[in-house]
Amino acid sequence: MAWKTLDDVEIKAKTVLIRVDINVPVEDGKVTDDTRIQRIIPTVNEVISKGGKAILMAHFGRPKGQVVPEMSLAQIVPAVEAALGKPVTFISGNYAESVGALSSGDVALLENLRFNPGEEKNDAGFAQRLASLGDLYVNDAFSAAHRAHASTEAIARLMPCCAGRLMEQELSALETALGTPKRPVVAVVGGAKVSTKLDLLSNLVEKTDHLVIGGGMANTFLAAQGIDVGKSLAEHDMTDTATEIMTKAKTVGCTIHLPVDVVVARDFKAGAENETVAADACPADAMILDAGPKTVDNLEAVFDQCETLIWNGPLGAFEIPPFDIATNAAAAKAAEQTKAGKLISVAGGGDTVAALNVSGAADDFTYISTAGGAFLEWMEGKTLPGVAALET
Ligand code: 3PG
Repeated sequence: MAWKTLDDVEIKAKTVLIRVDINVPVEDGKVTDDTRIQRIIPTVNEVISKGGKAILMAHFGRPKGQVVPEMSLAQIVPAVEAALGKPVTFISGNYAESVGALSSGDVALLENLRFNPGEEKNDAGFAQRLASLGDLYVNDAFSAAHRAHASTEAIARLMPCCAGRLMEQELSALETALGTPKRPVVAVVGGAKVSTKLDLLSNLVEKTDHLVIGGGMANTFLAAQGIDVGKSLAEHDMTDTATEIMTKAKTVGCTIHLPVDVVVARDFKAGAENETVAADACPADAMILDAGPKTVDNLEAVFDQCETLIWNGPLGAFEIPPFDIATNAAAAKAAEQTKAGKLISVAGGGDTVAALNVSGAADDFTYISTAGGAFLEWMEGKTLPGVAALET
């Protein structure tokens, strides 16, 4: 696939509509993690420094086509201004009039696009209304590219368009990790349920040499092998599917790694009394909450053999220490190998980034994606509509 970038377009004196993803966590009206905001700044700065007007378009939450005041993007403006170091005009009412009043070098943010029912319907009329505000469309929202919405898909077909710097970075990191990677490749997939990651696991066994399965999902795979997992989180109705995935892996030459030892506890709470047992020795009244040290040693040996690592999902119940030990140890190993220039490591998707940030390993990974669902869909091998629409 090929698309234009900011290098290929004229920006001076243009009004540039930039689709960004600033769907950031907010508590009591304050942004608690501004990573997504920080990552769009290079594109915005480039547009204004080249003499364009930057009109940011974004969504926040899922208001479903209604005006929901708690989901107004107005509350995000101070965080964007702080990251940019300049004022941002917030536009809610008459788009055209407010955009017309701006000068070159100004930055504005439109109100939550999802307040308009046309946004999620990928409505041509709403896309046209947005397109009429500017001369050029820049998509810098990889993390919303799995949605075919008016501001991510339809609009790209109505006006000159290109990828922003963050979009470029995300696509190039993902291509390096799974498109044309240096082999061997290891994928680490954790999280609670096989059912939500079925397509992903099926795609990964075809694309990788080693697949490490962790978290609650691993319990389903252990159960599929006839192992009693006691009170552990497991999807017993998915064991046939787990067996199919293991069979497919054998056929295509991907080695699946499951825990060989596990940390078990009777209570799902931070600091719960726990013990480490073999993976096939979980007591009937206990639940598996983390992978054990032998499993971590095995993983580290796999990382040592590999050139590329792609990671989605924690290995244990990382949110309740000490059941974060395996995730932290494996992440630290990946970070160390990356720092030593021996591994290309890419991580993304939901809890993953939070887990790697807590472990402190994130800074040393080659690339941490800002995407949640889009990262997963891309790992599933799906075409992302927002990316496809940029194609030249
Ligand atoms: C995200 O937070 O993953 C993106 O902003 C997409 O949000 P959505 O899942 O509500 O479409």
